[in-house]
Amino acid sequence: MNRITKIGIFDSGVGGLTVLKSLIEEIGFEKIIYYGDTARVPYGNKDQETIIRFSLEALEFFKHFNPDLLIVACNTASAHALKAMRECSHIPIVGVIESGVQALRQRNISYEKQILVLGTEATIKSGVYDTSLRELGYTNVVNIPTNLFVSLVEENIFDGEVVEATFRYYFPPTLKPSAVILGCTHFPLLLESLQRFFGSDTLFIHSGEAIANFLQQHYHNKILQKTHNTTKSDIEFFASDNINKLKQTARNWLKNDSYYSK
Ligand code: DGL
Repeated sequence: MNRITKIGIFDSGVGGLTVLKSLIEEIGFEKIIYYGDTARVPYGNKDQETIIRFSLEALEFFKHFNPDLLIVACNTASAHALKAMRECSHIPIVGVIESGVQALRQRNISYEKQILVLGTEATIKSGVYDTSLRELGYTNVVNIPTNLFVSLVEENIFDGEVVEATFRYYFPPTLKPSAVILGCTHFPLLLESLQRFFGSDTLFIHSGEAIANFLQQHYHNKILQKTHNTTKSDIEFFASDNINKLKQTARNWLKNDSYYSK
């Protein structure tokens, strides 16, 4: 593989912008093509065949741009469709699950500590996080599907009464995780509220930060480290529905000057 200067980022909707944000903070890509399947989000309550079909359609879209690397920011698509996408593509593809698990492992948490995995129903049902963590030796893994978190974030509700009530709905008082894997693109936006809820000792693994570190570790001689002098990334946004809303969300969430967009 040559240098990675042009990447594609695929998500089921706007949530992948959290991954995009982490990437442009750390790595100097020249060109980024972001595609959110906003017409068909959420993927998290769909079955595997549907998730694979939608993801393969997204792959066809990206093939026109011929990126050096395609990042599947969506945990649900990473959990169900990565293999099928790789089989149909000459473009290298990375998902966010392996990097999330690697990020946890690098934090040296003892194997008997409680690890909480949060994700959509489809991600949790796939068992990919659970299997990978248990294979590494973690014995106390709790998996909770929290689909409502996606709706909260889509509504720009990140804290307050509704969020706290949702936490109480999903999390039994006995839950005392040492680490939480935020196995969904949307969940980093609830991080502050989750940190308050579980306490400052709980460690959180964020898919975006994890994939940015993963690329730095595994592709370090092919990517450009971000420096003050790095030119801004040129980002082109595409969506299957309501592109203006996606662009507005990007402006609200990214709030930084490390990219420009048409
Ligand atoms: N992007 C999805 C994920 O990371 C969340 C939204 C959805 O259900 O499509 O799992």
